[in-house]
Amino acid sequence: MEYENKTVIVTGSARGIGREIAIKFGGLGANVVVFDIDIEGQAETAQTVCDEIKAAGGGAKYYLGDVSKPDDTDGLIKFAKDEFGSVDVIVNNAGITRDNLIMRMSEADWDAVLTVNLKGAFNVIKSAARTLMKQRAGVIINMASVSGVMGNAGQANYAASKAGLIGLTKSVAKELASRNIRCNAIAPGFIQTPMTDKLPENIQQSYKDAIPLKRFGQVEDIANLAVFLAGDGAKYITGQVINVDGGLVM
Ligand code: NAI
Repeated sequence: MEYENKTVIVTGSARGIGREIAIKFGGLGANVVVFDIDIEGQAETAQTVCDEIKAAGGGAKYYLGDVSKPDDTDGLIKFAKDEFGSVDVIVNNAGITRDNLIMRMSEADWDAVLTVNLKGAFNVIKSAARTLMKQRAGVIINMASVSGVMGNAGQANYAASKAGLIGLTKSVAKELASRNIRCNAIAPGFIQTPMTDKLPENIQQSYKDAIPLKRFGQVEDIANLAVFLAGDGAKYITGQVINVDGGLVM
């Protein structure tokens, strides 16, 4: 069990890609902290994910909060240490979209997306930095997007936030490498989740036509890379952005 006695934090793991990553780490023996926004019914949802992680063979506890609030991310790191004794892997996965053409994009939609997607990851990393540096070990994985690599019409805010995450990833990789802390980004293409289910059918089809593999990816395609990047098999990989996109970007 590669991740036995390791503590893995996955933000935005009540559903979608984050949930799959959390369960995958659980199946490899990790103690997983499921972190997600505190909305109505979320405690039950998060508990269900914890039950799935335990059924897969891991340990699990949930903690609810908002990645864009430093007090919440400080609380998250403290919770992980109190409950499981360390913070070994952090997956900054929480993210939102507020798509619109730039001339119709409101300042509020710009701010919301940048605040959750980019500042949220900064907050979690900052809250965890001292702990990881003291341990002289740790892995950070940031969930970027192909939109942040190649841009996307109608997603100026989202693409900017994900491109920002790539800059954050490389800077953190350089800053913390001497303490044996690695930081990489995953750039998913179109993955079938509630986020992509929201897209109109004709838009989904036009995206599929542009993907060399002609289909959307599955959440497990992203989870497989996350567990690889967090593990010893990737111990010489840092500061990288890896596309998982059916060949969309090449
Ligand atoms: P999703 O919308 O299904 O799940 C996102 C999760 O993040 C939700 O559980 C949500 O409650 C949580 N969240 C949102 N705001 C939060 C906050 N302020 N604090 C804490 N948690 C918060 O999205 P999905 O599709 O699973 O995406 C996960 C990540 O992968 C996101 O960062 C997204 O941008 C990225 N991504 C997804 C792609 C896709 O095709 N689904 C493609 C490229 C990137």
